[in-house]
Amino acid sequence: MNDYAVEAKNLVKRFGDIDAVNNVSLMIPKNSIYALLGPNGAGKTTTISMLTTLIQPTQGSARVAGYDVLSQADKVRRNIGVTFQETVLDDALTGRQAMTYHGRLYRFSKAENEAKTAELLAMVELEDAADRAIKTYSGGMKRRLELARGLMTEPQVLFLDEPTLGLDPQNRTKIWEYIQDLKQRKGLTLLLTTHYMDEAEQLADCVGIIDAGCIIKEGSPKELIDQMGKDAITMIGYGNRERYLEQLGQLPFVQAVTTAGPITQLAVDAGNRRLAEVVTLANTEGFTIEDISVAKPSLADVFLKYTGRQLRDK
Ligand SMILES: Nc1ncnc2c1ncn2[C@@H]1O[C@H](COP(=O)(O)OP(=O)(O)OP(=O)(O)O)[C@@H](O)[C@H]1O
Ligand SMILES: [Mg+2]
Repeated sequence: MNDYAVEAKNLVKRFGDIDAVNNVSLMIPKNSIYALLGPNGAGKTTTISMLTTLIQPTQGSARVAGYDVLSQADKVRRNIGVTFQETVLDDALTGRQAMTYHGRLYRFSKAENEAKTAELLAMVELEDAADRAIKTYSGGMKRRLELARGLMTEPQVLFLDEPTLGLDPQNRTKIWEYIQDLKQRKGLTLLLTTHYMDEAEQLADCVGIIDAGCIIKEGSPKELIDQMGKDAITMIGYGNRERYLEQLGQLPFVQAVTTAGPITQLAVDAGNRRLAEVVTLANTEGFTIEDISVAKPSLADVFLKYTGRQLRDK
């Protein structure tokens, strides 16, 4: 028995002279949630496109739901669901029509098609809106409809490209609930991409940070955060930063110093207790702190550490 829903080995995708994906390997155990986290242009959508057989890798290989994406593309397609980053719903259709048209593509019987449609629309709480044109739906409703449509074929593996992009917090929370429920009740494996750190932290069993086409760090959110030290002191200021950072790095309680643009971050053993010392040192080293805060490290701090960049929510 194969325990992995997705096994990708050294995937590469080049578009002309752009390396969109540069040697990505992924092993995603069945019935787990994997979040691919990365800035714009990192290669998230391209990775999903290869795994869902929309495009062929330039190099490397992958198996999804046990089938090879190149030699068994049909079987892969039959065992996966995908929702895309851009809404691909036809606005003139009603929600119910969008579902049943999709079912026809897969040659469901009429009865089966209608039953599945009704069940899934109920699951995403769109029963009341089912017979209205999609153009009257809110962004969150459209996303939920796409999720429902992606489930029509009872996939083993579901690929969600930015499932909550542009949604307000309430709608996002709702979609998280569906995603978690799908994993628990239907035993699905999910690969999702997101810009939202809190989303990955909440949902994912495993997170992969992707930047410039490479996965640069992977682990459970807890593992990654635990590696960051106990507390994070984050500050912005001006003056002789280089010298100040050098001195900070020599303090015994400072485990790591990270900079990203104007931001400096220190991993320390006990933030509140060390704050005074950090500020005092700034004064003696001619560095003026404009803003300083202490917090428990989060996945956003992990991202900052490994990419040297902040990942801002769009
Ligand atoms: N069809 C294409 N032709 C040429 N270049 C492409 C194509 N698709 C993607 N790229 C390039 O490949 C890189 C990765 O793009 P991709 O869409 O995978 O990023 P992403 O991580 O999904 O970004 P976003 O967060 O903006 O959705 C980018 O530099 C992009 O411009
Ligand atoms: Mg994308």
